Amino acid sequence: MNTPDVRRLFLALWPDSAVRNALVELQRSLPSGIGRLVSGDNLHLTLIFLGSTPAERQRCIEEALTGIAATGFSLQLDRLGYWRKPQVLWAGSAVTPPPLSALVRETQDCVVRCGGAVDERPFQIHLTLCRKVRKAPRDLPAVAPISWPVRAFALVESVTAAAGVQYRVLREWPLAAGTDGGTSQ
Ligand code: 2AM
Repeated sequence: MNTPDVRRLFLALWPDSAVRNALVELQRSLPSGIGRLVSGDNLHLTLIFLGSTPAERQRCIEEALTGIAATGFSLQLDRLGYWRKPQVLWAGSAVTPPPLSALVRETQDCVVRCGGAVDERPFQIHLTLCRKVRKAPRDLPAVAPISWPVRAFALVESVTAAAGVQYRVLREWPLAAGTDGGTSQ
């Protein structure tokens, strides 16, 4: 359980309402009964899972993140994927934009400098749409690509309430204008 001085945190790309609506549409197109859909309000793309984070480390990470120079980009969500072990169905992308890889590297450096641990596995774009998917789903729909102009990243708290898990954006950092359309609209 969270205490005031230790929060369950993660860094994420937080969709704007247009992208969120498109993702909810994509969820609606999935075969019914395959698992538990992530609620529309909670949809996000995790950059780094920080887990239980003491307030002092949170302060250190926030300060470090304020110093990074990362660039915006356009993300194209154009495919579905399934991971058997965590039992999740996700939306992903054929291409990882280089500014996204750079953002993950830079934010990981900040976390490590502040004494946090990061996943050793290579970053893989995945935005979880559905959990508790016990079997590899068949007859998945074709994905009408969702174009996501990413202009910021967020520090998010995971709060467990009676109604279930809720994600709360604590702070956002803007990304600098990019050259590929991510911040030019
Ligand atoms: P995922 O759904 O993108 O896989 C908030 O809990 C987010 O952090 C979740 O959306 C989940 O990402 C990720 N997360 C939760 N627990 C995790 C863990 N133990 N290791 C890595 N990522 C985790």
